[in-house]
Amino acid sequence: MSSLLERLPPSVIALLLQIAAFLLTTLGIRLLGLQLAPLLFALLCGGMSALLSQFAGLARWWLFIQFLFAPALVLMLALHIPPGFFLAAFLLMLVVYWSTFRTQVPLYLSSNKVWQALESRLPAAQPFSLVDLGSGIGGVLTHLAQTHPHGRFDGVEAAPLPFLWSWLRIRFGGFGNCSVHWGSLWDSDLSQYDVVFAYLSPVPMQALWSKARQEMRPGSLFISNTFAVPDHPPQETISVEDLHHSQLYLWRM
Ligand SMILES: C[S@@+](CC[C@H](N)C(=O)[O-])C[C@H]1O[C@@H](n2cnc3c(N)ncnc32)[C@H](O)[C@@H]1O
Repeated sequence: MSSLLERLPPSVIALLLQIAAFLLTTLGIRLLGLQLAPLLFALLCGGMSALLSQFAGLARWWLFIQFLFAPALVLMLALHIPPGFFLAAFLLMLVVYWSTFRTQVPLYLSSNKVWQALESRLPAAQPFSLVDLGSGIGGVLTHLAQTHPHGRFDGVEAAPLPFLWSWLRIRFGGFGNCSVHWGSLWDSDLSQYDVVFAYLSPVPMQALWSKARQEMRPGSLFISNTFAVPDHPPQETISVEDLHHSQLYLWRM
C-alpha cells in the first residue's frame, strides 16, 4: 500500500485523501446522529483531510490546501457563480499547466539576468547547438537566438498553450536559427546538442541526470537553473543577482 502511494503523484494522493476524509466525516456524523450546517461539515472534512495528509507524509503546504479545499468549495457554491466560469478556468489551467500534476514541473520563467548569464557561457563565434528542455514560452530560446546568431536553438515543451505561444513567437519573430517542438523532454535525443539547458523542479533532476550522462557527448555542457542534481555537485555554479537569487549549475560531460 505504501509503495503504491509512493508511486502516485501528490495531487492524486491529495484527491484520494479528500474522498476518504469526506467518507469518514459523513460516517462519523451519521453515527453521532448530528445535523451540521454545510460550512461546518466542510470544515470538519478539511480538518480530517489535513490530518490524513499529515499521516500520509504529504509536504506541509498540502496540509493548508487540504484543509481549505472543502470550505472553499462551500463558500464558492454560495456565491452562485455560473458553472461555465469554473469550466473556463479549468480549461485555461489545463492548456497552461497540462501534465504538471504528474510531472511536478509547473510553468515559471527564467529571469532576464539568467538569460544574460547563459549568454556569457556560450561560444562567442563558432557554431553550436542548444536545447531548452521544457522551453515554456520560448524566452530563453529567442533571447539567445538573437545574441548568438551563429548558434542553433531548439526547445521542447509539453504544455499546449506555452508551446503555441513560443511557436508563434519564433515563427513570426523571424528567428531562423530557432525551433520548438511539442512533446516530452524525455523523448529528446541529447546527443545532438553542445549545450543542454533545463529549468524544471527538484523532482525530475535525478532521472534527467541519468539521461544526460547516457546521451550527452563528452565535452558538452549541461546547465540547470536553480535545481541541483542530488549527490552530483556541479563543476561550476553561477550566482545570478535576480529576484530569486537564481543559481546556474554547470556540468561539463
Ligand atoms: C520552469 S518552466 C521553464 C521555462 C523555460 N525553460 C524558462 O527557463 O523560462 C518548465 C517548463 O517545462 C515544461 N515541462 C515540464 N515537464 C515537461 C516534459 N516532460 N516535457 C516537456 N516539457 C515539460 C513545463 O510545461 C514548463 O513550461
